[in-house]
Amino acid sequence: MTVSPEIRESMRTVEEYLKEDPRTPDALFEQAGEDPPLEPIPSAHYTSVEWQQREIDKLWKKSWQMACRENDIPQPGDYTEYTIVGQTLIIVRQDDGSIKALRNTCLHRGTALIEGAGSNSEFQCTFHGWTWKLDGSLKRVPCRWDFPKVSDGEFALPEVKVDTWQGFVFVNLDPDCEPLLDFVGPTLQRHFELWPLENRYKAVHVVKRIPCNWKVAMEAFMEDYHVFRTHAQMVGYAGDCNSQYDIFDGMHSRMITSMGVASPHLEDSYTAQDTVDSMIEDLVADVAREADVKVEAPRIPEGATARNTLAGFMRASMKERLGLDFSDKADAEVLDAIQYQMFPNLIPWGGFSFPLVYRYRPAESPDWCWFDVMIMAPLPDGVPVPRDVPCTVLPSDEPWANCAELGGLGPVYDQDMVNLPKVQRGMHNDTMNELTMAQYQERNIRDFHRRLEAFLDR
Ligand code: FES
Ligand SMILES: [Fe+2]
Repeated sequence: MTVSPEIRESMRTVEEYLKEDPRTPDALFEQAGEDPPLEPIPSAHYTSVEWQQREIDKLWKKSWQMACRENDIPQPGDYTEYTIVGQTLIIVRQDDGSIKALRNTCLHRGTALIEGAGSNSEFQCTFHGWTWKLDGSLKRVPCRWDFPKVSDGEFALPEVKVDTWQGFVFVNLDPDCEPLLDFVGPTLQRHFELWPLENRYKAVHVVKRIPCNWKVAMEAFMEDYHVFRTHAQMVGYAGDCNSQYDIFDGMHSRMITSMGVASPHLEDSYTAQDTVDSMIEDLVADVAREADVKVEAPRIPEGATARNTLAGFMRASMKERLGLDFSDKADAEVLDAIQYQMFPNLIPWGGFSFPLVYRYRPAESPDWCWFDVMIMAPLPDGVPVPRDVPCTVLPSDEPWANCAELGGLGPVYDQDMVNLPKVQRGMHNDTMNELTMAQYQERNIRDFHRRLEAFLDR
């Protein structure tokens, strides 16, 4: 049982909304996972250097993590750098189309061979010119006679485990790791067959360094409890405290937020038409105004609901903008916020309405992290997939709203960003030893910490 008894008694559940549409796929009804124990989370897990070191040694050097998209490196010789906890890797497309992950370090004196992304037929060190082939084998050592102990076999760039799922390239620094698909688990594999990401392309990729622990940033996107206070503009059209929280295969989780319904915080003061008007005003009208297009909120037809009116609007708008026909897809798939959390640090969204992917990585201290936002644009069948856009680094002091390509999402992230550095700062108080998490709305966060601790103890 994952739905809180209080919700069952006093609020409409996500399940009830899903049942209104016979097209809803079974995957959205699956409610899995034991309730994790209602225990506080030590603040040291976010603030202490010792804990961060434990995560470096036992999590980041042992777990599968998304390094890039396959489509970031479509052609032989295309490469991109992936860095995590001071480790730097070259992810490179091979002549035979396969992908390798190599340690990004010259075996002469340690110079990093690449920085960022590019395309090359070999990797040549800029210091003294040692050169490796795309597959990591040693190609050339200037004045080779001066290195009698250098053998080709021993001086190949060390390889790191690499595999792909749904168009993402994953790496694992642990040579003895489990296969990627075992780690992804059966549930996410099955669910993402409904909303395949492998044939999408990355239309937007922005990354920003944020002054908080990576888990503080990620966990702000794993609960809807904060919505009514942090994103007050959304309560007219987003079910927040009745969102559904699920845990799958003991490893990953999901949060489904019904859209096109008023928050239970103010259900009684909102009409269905108010809900439609506020969602259109907030999510669509700003962008449309910038493009100088007038968007009228649709009127709810006789016998219809705010949800199916808005879902119809979304289907029509995606048909017009993207040429995609979603008439056989459920309202939930074109309207709701369906966010999966893949252990440890990836949030790929399900459905079609919000094609987002978030990634969170630790930075140089427990008090800083990197937050990536990607938009994975769907394409009509038969349209060639364009190359993914390069990643833009947004300076730490610049608002997300400056990223025009994020549209209405930028200001929403800025609302979250107001809290995150304050959380990090406040947690350092000697008296703030533990965080008190909600029984229902923060259950996925509590469970994430259970999974994290279990992983660190492996
Ligand atoms: S450090 Fe790379 S060739 Fe000398
Ligand atoms: Fe938020």
